[in-house]
Amino acid sequence: MTPAYEIRRLDGWGRWVTPKALRSRPIHRWYVFPHSFTSRLVHGLIDQWHLGQADTIIDPFAGAGTTLLAAKEKGVPACGYDISPVAVLAARVKIANYSKQRLRCAWQALQDAIDPTSWSRPAKPYPELVNRALPGKLLAAFDSIAQQIAELACSRAERDFFRLALLSIVPKYSRAVASGGWLKWVVQRSNVRSIPSTLRHRVAEMLADLDSVRLPRRAEWRVKMADARELPDRASSFSAVITSPPYPNRHDYTRVFGVELMLQFLDWEATRQLRYQSFHSHPEARPQRPCHADYQPPERLLRITACLKKKGLERKIVRMLEGYFLDMHLCLREIERVCRPKARIALVLGNAQYCGVRIPVDKLTAEIAENAGLGCDRLLAVRYRGNSAQQMGKFGRRPSRETIVLLSKPRSRNS
Ligand SMILES: C[S@@+](CC[C@H](N)C(=O)[O-])C[C@H]1O[C@@H](n2cnc3c(N)ncnc32)[C@H](O)[C@@H]1O
Repeated sequence: MTPAYEIRRLDGWGRWVTPKALRSRPIHRWYVFPHSFTSRLVHGLIDQWHLGQADTIIDPFAGAGTTLLAAKEKGVPACGYDISPVAVLAARVKIANYSKQRLRCAWQALQDAIDPTSWSRPAKPYPELVNRALPGKLLAAFDSIAQQIAELACSRAERDFFRLALLSIVPKYSRAVASGGWLKWVVQRSNVRSIPSTLRHRVAEMLADLDSVRLPRRAEWRVKMADARELPDRASSFSAVITSPPYPNRHDYTRVFGVELMLQFLDWEATRQLRYQSFHSHPEARPQRPCHADYQPPERLLRITACLKKKGLERKIVRMLEGYFLDMHLCLREIERVCRPKARIALVLGNAQYCGVRIPVDKLTAEIAENAGLGCDRLLAVRYRGNSAQQMGKFGRRPSRETIVLLSKPRSRNS
């Protein structure tokens, strides 16, 4: 039988699940993802759950590191993973401990090394997307400064600090910029000559943030590359989860961050492999998954996909939805394994709709979580988002719910 879940409205938290407020928060603002939630959300949950220094939070979809940094602000240890090297760099730089004096020395050395007369052509070939996004001398400028950062005589954490600063100014110059969850081609007027001063402002802001914020300096916050479907931790390691998996809305982070990925981390082929391996929230994913013989799709999902097939929804989108909930099962199975009994879990999720059919991602996830041995405590509807212009034209205005799904791990498997 399909379980009924009550949805409770919690209007005050709506702006905590969008990234807007992060853009003015010290350190958080160094790099913001289009789908980041805010530190207020994390602080609110930490307070409600009475978490402290003896606890450890995990975020298996760390993104720009909001959960990790917000947990550090509260002094609660935390560990994060993400499949994207852009996310891991952003999160790692935000939670690192620095000597401000050493950073200032390295910054002086970098400024001395930046030489616009050497920006004639990049030292190595780049994929076509990067060439098109950074035409003329732009690519040579970013390539040269990245090289100078790599050659700085300082620690890896200090070099990463400047790598992130450089990465964060790319959208001001790139012809391909993230717009919502898509990559949009734009006409940019920012001139290559302004790159040193833009970088100077950025680094000055980052250094000022370090002056304005006092965070604990213990080594209890870490982030690594890993797949949320196969976490590297031992069983019963964590007392809480605060995370947001990608929504099944077809947004592909490897495209949204394609320029950044191929400018600093991966070649074209490795970017494509990352696209395939990411959560099945976009139709191009075709991940290799751990064994999942234990997965039974919920009846409700089978009814929805049957209806979508009848309505003629593209096969690859139906496959995406089937894969999405399988991935959700694998991720919840891992969460159940790595969490201690009585652990509290918050997932921020967005519902979707295709062909006018609503996909209740929150309820389906709650059901999959219960099948994986977790308890569903509450579904809190915090925000309603408009549907896409295309869907609106065909089916009218039908906002989709954004929900915080609150789960917990029982005291024991049978309780
Ligand atoms: C909604 S974002 C998380 C945003 C984050 N809460 C924040 O505040 O910045 C989802 C993240 O999941 C990551 N991701 C996608 N597939 C993954 C997988 N299989 N394992 C781990 N992370 C994955 C993406 O790279 C992206 O950073």
